[in-house]
Parts: sequence; C-alpha cells; structure tokens
Amino acid sequence: MLDRRHFLSLSTAATGFASLSLQQNLFSRNNLLAQLEKIPSLPDRSLYDKNEDAYWAEMRKQFLIPEDEVYLNNGTVGSSPAPVLRAVFEGYETTEKMDQQDPEDYPIWGYAAWNEFRDPLAEFVGCTRNELALLRNATEANSYIANGLDLKAGDEVLMTDQEHPGGEHPWNLKAKRYGIVVKKIALPRPVKDAAQMLNLVNDAIGPRTRVLFFSHITTFSGVVLPARDLCTLARTKGILSAVDGAHVPGMMRLNVRDIGCDMYSSSPHKWLFAPKGSGFLYVRDEVIDRVWNTIVTEGWEDTKIRAERFQRIGSSNVPSLWGLRASIKLANDIGMDRIEKRHRFMADYVLGEMVKRGAESWTSSDAALRCAIVTVNVPGVPRMELENWLWNTHRIRIRGGDPNKLRLSTPYYLQKRDVDRFLAGFEQYRRRSA
Ligand SMILES: Cc1ncc(COP(=O)(O)O)c(C=O)c1O
Repeated sequence: MLDRRHFLSLSTAATGFASLSLQQNLFSRNNLLAQLEKIPSLPDRSLYDKNEDAYWAEMRKQFLIPEDEVYLNNGTVGSSPAPVLRAVFEGYETTEKMDQQDPEDYPIWGYAAWNEFRDPLAEFVGCTRNELALLRNATEANSYIANGLDLKAGDEVLMTDQEHPGGEHPWNLKAKRYGIVVKKIALPRPVKDAAQMLNLVNDAIGPRTRVLFFSHITTFSGVVLPARDLCTLARTKGILSAVDGAHVPGMMRLNVRDIGCDMYSSSPHKWLFAPKGSGFLYVRDEVIDRVWNTIVTEGWEDTKIRAERFQRIGSSNVPSLWGLRASIKLANDIGMDRIEKRHRFMADYVLGEMVKRGAESWTSSDAALRCAIVTVNVPGVPRMELENWLWNTHRIRIRGGDPNKLRLSTPYYLQKRDVDRFLAGFEQYRRRSA
C-alpha cells in the first residue's frame, strides 16, 4: 500500500532546506497522492447491467483528467487511471528500498524474464510468454523488427501510406543503409471493405516482396485493417507479416495467434492506459530465430530464452511494468467485450453527428473496419486553428492532420455529454468563422 505519511515527512523535511522548486515538486507529488486517495473504488460490474451510462460515468472518476476537460485524443496517448498509477507507486515503494530477498534481484528490467509481467500480457494478447518481449513502446518494437530481419538490397517491404513515423522510418533507415525498397500502397479514404484492402495488397505483392508491414489500426484514419486476412495472404505468398498494433490492446479484443502474424508490436500506453514506456514485441515462435537483436547485452545469443532475448535492453523502469500489469487487470475486470462495445458506440455517435454537420467521413462504413478512432475531413476548417481554439476556449482536446482532417478518439470513459460539448464547440467555431 502507498505510504502517504512517508511522502508527507519527506515534504516537511524538505521545507527547511530545499530549493523552492524542490518543494513545489514534493508538494505536487503529495497533491497527486491526495487526489488518488480521493478516487473511489471501481464500480461494481453489476452496475453495468442496471445502468450502462452510470457505470461508465463511475469509471470516468478513475482518471485524473479534470472534470471540465474533454479528452478526444487518446489516439496519441492515454491517461493512466488510478489503479495503474497506484500500482506504479507501489512498484517504486516495493523495489526502491533495495531490500529484496535475493541480493541478485534489482529493479532493472533488461536482464531477466520478468514472467510475472509477461504472463498476464501473454494471456491478454493470446500467445505464450516465450513469444513476448517487454519493450518500451511500439517504435522500439518496430525498430527491432526492421533491424532484426536479414534482407538484401532490392528486397521489398510493402506497407500502407498511413504508417506512423515510428513504424515507417525503421524501414526507411534500412533502405538507406542496405538498399532495401519500401513500397507503399495508397489507402482509399475511406477503405471500403476487407475485400478492397486484400485486392490492393495482393496486387502490390511482387517477386521481391519479403515483408508485409501494416498498422492494425492506422494513426492517420483509425481504419481497422483486416489483419487476419492480410496475414493469411502474406503467409500463402511466403512473405513475413509484421503488424504495428500500437492502438489495439485495450481498444478491441486481440489475439495475435488468431491473427496469424509473424510479428506484432504495440504501445499499451494508449488504449490500455498503461504507463508511458511500457510496450511489447510479439514474435511467433517459429520466427524468433530469424530476428537479430538490435539492442544488445548479455543473453542476445541465447536462443533457449526465446523472445526474452529481445527484452535484454539494459536497465529500465520496472515500476512501469507494475502499471502495465494493473492496466491489464483493469481491462479484464471491466471486460474487453464491454469496452469494445462502448468504444464502438461512442465513435459511431460522434461520426454520425459530424457527418450530419457536413463532414466527409474518412472512417470506413464497414463496421468491422472501425472502432474507437474516427476521422473526418472538413473542408474550410483549418484543423490546427480549430484545435487551438477548442482547447483555449472550451478545454476540449482533439487532434488532426493538415489541412482539414479531424481525428476523434473515444475512450470508454467518455460521456455522451462530452461528445455533445465537442459538437457544440465545433458548431460555434464554424459560426464564428463564417
Ligand atoms: C500506429 C502507430 N504506430 C506507432 C506509434 C508510435 O508509438 P510510440 O510513440 O508509443 O512508440 C504510434 C503512435 O501514435 C502509432 O499510432
């Protein structure tokens, strides 16, 4: 448990001799602990059956995001709720005393298996612990994939034109350094259905294609690509499939085995609300031995430890793994089926309302190809100006892309009234600039 008195005594001791900024830091830390103490316990699952909205309204209280703020940019980063933050603090409290039973046990993650964290994650994403490496984010995992594969000059990597820089650039680097070729498929806006997507990829695969790399959910439009079909296609063509799933865990149910990909990377700090700096790389057991390490320390040649070899990254922050484990437990406690249903409901609501207001949907009309990220194009509305205006005048946070694309993310704790506030703000902005 958190020992608040300990922090308070630290704060008191600091008052006498520390600099003002240190005092301010300690004060704000106390403030955070005090806030966490005030957050109520999780609502009972049965409340969901009685009154779904009331259940999600209770869940909203788990987040530090101020009540008057509407956060519609979970696509960039999630906010860690109370159970996750508490677990991180507990992690520090437990490990930083340096009084572990085993004198060889230290709170640094890059030298060991850490199965107490890999096991719940493996169960959550549908693989074995030996196929998982705990890394710090999707960028790191994607870099591992691109750097780790043996490819020759002229070999092709096929990807979409909607990859995140943290997915695309590891391959660009390889192209510059080793002469591989990055080939991009232009995704329609919106993608119509899975068949259209499969045809596009099938037509783009050539004799030199070695890897198919794509985002399961793209950062650009939020389209949910038909990962299973695409990976099956790759397999039948004898090429490797690597999926960037930064947005997926915590947004929708995920089973990497079922998808059948060779590799999968992710950043659970987004939709699972894990701490920043907790990511993972999945490598199918049959493929592990084909991937070289990128970060290297003792253990990199030990094939017996399977994917653990990739998490030998040197000293890193173990309490964030405590937070990751808590975020998995929270999602399991709520139930991924309920979470996904809520995500779809709220995203569909905001999409429908924006279309009524004349926005052009870049989100697929096929429900299987969308979930909790909606994108719309609104000609005549400069997105950066709208973004700043909404934030400065209404405390509403959105994101988009120039010139006129708005990207709206709908995490489960969002209330309908939050979405309505955004819609009213959007209308006000338009009237004001008409
Ligand atoms: C599809 C995708 N891949 C990778 C990333 C990079 O994530 P991170 O910064 O956590 O490495 C993002 C971030 O938005 C993303 O949307």
